[in-house]
Amino acid sequence: MVWCAGLAFLKAIQKRCLRVSKIGKTANTIKNRAHANDVFYTPPGLVNQLLKHTPIHPEEFVLDPFSGDGAFFNAFDNRAKDWCEIELDKDFFGYDVPVDWVVSNPPFSLISETLDHTCKIATAGFAYIMPTYSLTHNRINRANGFGFKLSKLVFFPTPKNWNLGFQMCYAVFLHTRFELSHLQRMDSLGPAIVTLDMTEGIQTRLI
Ligand SMILES: C[S@@+](CC[C@H](N)C(=O)[O-])C[C@H]1O[C@@H](n2cnc3c(N)ncnc32)[C@H](O)[C@@H]1O
Repeated sequence: MVWCAGLAFLKAIQKRCLRVSKIGKTANTIKNRAHANDVFYTPPGLVNQLLKHTPIHPEEFVLDPFSGDGAFFNAFDNRAKDWCEIELDKDFFGYDVPVDWVVSNPPFSLISETLDHTCKIATAGFAYIMPTYSLTHNRINRANGFGFKLSKLVFFPTPKNWNLGFQMCYAVFLHTRFELSHLQRMDSLGPAIVTLDMTEGIQTRLI
């Protein structure tokens, strides 16, 4: 009897170890995948749609902190704009000059660090693509602590070539000190929650 219980206990431990090693293997695969810097390029058509939901004034200064191939940077209409890209030796975390807006698709493994640094240099607002599950209470509260409020959420189908199984979103935060003028601009851009339907070209469905 005691022997049977002992055997069952050992089997349970073996099963658990197997599960933990599988989880470890998955985490390792994600960490070491070909895109070590989380390099998921955003299709230009999607960038154009997302910028329609971002209340940037043409005369404001916009930074694309993770420019990659420049999908966001090239799409900014603003004359005053700048970019960072680690592959070109311009590290966003070394960029300390205040800017009006910070807008991009960041490395998904650096969301917390990205939000913290962004909140320190953005004065009007910021907007980022991110996995929806990354938008945690803690991160939203930290942004609130810097005076930024989550003001708009745009959901869109994950581009197929990213091979990611989770729902993506584009979160727009506005600084409360500019709330009135920016909220007026935001109002003119439609509802606070939007779903892009990109199955046939790019259409916008408002919810
Ligand atoms: C998800 S990709 C997005 C590229 C581009 N924004 C787009 O939407 O197509 C993230 C980019 O950030 C760059 N990157 C990673 N860490 C960085 C850092 N600390 N500073 C600047 N760029 C960085 C990567 O090399 C990569 O090109």
